[in-house]
Amino acid sequence: RVVAVIMVGGPTKGTRFRPLSFNLPKPLFPLAGQPMVHHPISACKRIPNLVQIYLIGFYEEREFALYVSSISNELKIAVRYLREDKPHGSAGGIYNFRDLIMEDNPSHIFLLNFDVCCSFPLPEMLDAHRRYGGMGTILVIKVSAESANQFGELVADTITNELLHYTEKPETFVSDRINCGVYIFTPEIFTAIQGVSTQRKDRANLRRVSSFEALQSATRSFPADFVRLDQDILSPLAGKKQLYTYETMDFWEQIKTPGMSLRCSGLYLAQFRYHSPHLLATGDGTKNATIIGDVYIHPSAKVHPTAKIGPNVSISANARIGAGARLISCIILDDVAIAENAVVLHAIVGWKSSIGRWSRVQADGQYNAKLGVTILGEAVAVEDEVVVTNSIVLPNKTLNVSVQDEIIL
Ligand code: GDD
Repeated sequence: RVVAVIMVGGPTKGTRFRPLSFNLPKPLFPLAGQPMVHHPISACKRIPNLVQIYLIGFYEEREFALYVSSISNELKIAVRYLREDKPHGSAGGIYNFRDLIMEDNPSHIFLLNFDVCCSFPLPEMLDAHRRYGGMGTILVIKVSAESANQFGELVADTITNELLHYTEKPETFVSDRINCGVYIFTPEIFTAIQGVSTQRKDRANLRRVSSFEALQSATRSFPADFVRLDQDILSPLAGKKQLYTYETMDFWEQIKTPGMSLRCSGLYLAQFRYHSPHLLATGDGTKNATIIGDVYIHPSAKVHPTAKIGPNVSISANARIGAGARLISCIILDDVAIAENAVVLHAIVGWKSSIGRWSRVQADGQYNAKLGVTILGEAVAVEDEVVVTNSIVLPNKTLNVSVQDEIIL
């Protein structure tokens, strides 16, 4: 039996995702028309003998209740949200619920970060892990040497794939192979986390009886029940024949910013061609808009037949797209109204926003740059013939003049 755990974090994390995370937990933000966390969840469906999927986070339960029950019904697999009372770190979080997770008596536990976008080759990882033996296998990918320091950098044995060395976000270059945030473990992982936690407690007790200076450093260290998977578990276990790596040759991205969510929406749309072609708009027939490339349109959205949509466009529920509108590389959220002949290019348009006639909401599309994608927060009104370029607009603003390279507070 296999159990999957997806770490979803909580409201204090993901501040870089503002203003889109103001009233929706980031894991539920739609990419390719589906909540971000839907993509790893549906990938879990391909794991043989999977009995349960847990989402662990410190958001309120009610924020996930609706989604969790609908996805359980849809995929016919038990999905449950488990709430931590406070952040325990990426390893402490799963350790906190070890008894519950072990109730199903799993031989293997998948652990996935919710904020990564990839093809999730989970059955392949399970096979590789069985061949290697050991306590865990980490999904890794080769990235450019310049970008590697944003991630956990690692060195693996080229023949056995054993993890030999691991450093989290190092200041000096270690390796262009990085940790993808997708793991498979045996239940021994809980013993390893417990080891770290016990060590912490012991150290804290020692400090309590020693000098003032030591006391100061103790206050700087983490509480015993806060354990990070990368620094506290992977680093010390490297080179001990316990951890192995599985390298993916497919795509992989991390989704920390709105700009990257637009890029990842496109990657998932492209993947729909293989897994869920029924979700892609076809533009067949004279009544439909012209569709170019990969496009998702929610069934309740109304798109004028003279509009031209795509590539990489995702349109959510109840959006209305007017005559002659042109949409390229964008995410249009629920209840947005786009008037006649407006253009949206490299942008995310927040819930209930409106874009006037002949207006343009656009950016240069550099996904990693701060203003490389234009973001309109919730209920922003762009009036007729206004051009918004490379800007971020916070919720409830009305724009009646054009802006460029600005953050409108
Ligand atoms: N439930 C819960 N509780 N989840 C948490 C907590 C916590 O206290 N802390 C972090 N997480 C979740 C995050 O939501 C995310 O899914 C995952 O754990 C890792 O988050 P971070 O610890 O903030 O690390 P990171 O995202 O900066 O980097 C990690 O992932 C990269 C891949 O995306 C590291 O493992 C890197 O090495 C790795 O390259």
